[in-house]
Amino acid sequence: MFSSNDNKILETIKVGKSFGKMSALADVSFEVTMGEVLGIAGPNGAGKTTLFNVIAGKLDNSGDIVFNGKNISKFGPHQICKEGIARTFQIPLLFSTLSIFEHAKIGTKFGLSIPAGKDTDDEIMELLDFIGLSSKKHEIADNLDLFDKKLTMLAAAVSTKPKLLLLDEPVGGLSPREINDYISLIEKLKENLGLTIIVIEHLMPILTRIADRLMILESGRQICIGTPNEVRNDPYVREVYLGENAYA
Ligand SMILES: Nc1ncnc2c1ncn2[C@@H]1O[C@H](COP(=O)(O)OP(=O)(O)OP(=O)(O)O)[C@@H](O)[C@H]1O
Ligand SMILES: [Mg+2]
Repeated sequence: MFSSNDNKILETIKVGKSFGKMSALADVSFEVTMGEVLGIAGPNGAGKTTLFNVIAGKLDNSGDIVFNGKNISKFGPHQICKEGIARTFQIPLLFSTLSIFEHAKIGTKFGLSIPAGKDTDDEIMELLDFIGLSSKKHEIADNLDLFDKKLTMLAAAVSTKPKLLLLDEPVGGLSPREINDYISLIEKLKENLGLTIIVIEHLMPILTRIADRLMILESGRQICIGTPNEVRNDPYVREVYLGENAYA
């Protein structure tokens, strides 16, 4: 019933979301292939975060969302997490008095079940090593700088053992060096853990570096999807979003 891409992990079919009379998303249809990084860009208010909120079950929606062959459109956030989708937030959302380690531990309780007899704490330490947080594992969220807050959100998300990771502007507000470190981490998550990733980001040079394909949203509608080259050469995208110097 749902088209021919056998490797697809996610498909949205005419997904829509309105807030009162305002249409934040309209007829958004796209597929994500297993193992790819899909970048999403678009002006402020384009509906990027709203799209993540409907995929992750935080908001209801019209249309269908199919994940791993299962229609998850009506699932709540905890069910969607169990299915294998995890996300981070545009503005860090953490438990202020809990440590980095505890954030990752909470993730293990919500995601795909851990095989019986497996030592969760060892697994968490492996993950914190991978992300670069192990030396700070006992630090409390409120005392962390923005970069470590973002990494802690990532650790909590990855500790649910997702198949699909949604990253909402993960490098916004970071220094150039931190941006580089975070991008390397995204590359490692793809290469070493085989994660499929959708990442929202405004800066085109960053997106073209990490994404296999890009989708541009504008006023809740998908205006283009394709390889970075295809998107870069789309006349409408250039006119309304990129401008002539977008890749400078
Ligand atoms: N919970 C909500 N209630 C009412 N309106 C909302 C809600 N969430 C989002 N909106 C509106 O929906 C539109 C899309 O918002 P959204 O946050 O998805 O945009 P965005 O593309 O993520 O923008 P940005 O780049 O600024 O993060 C905006 O007009 C926003 O004001
Ligand atoms: Mg947003």
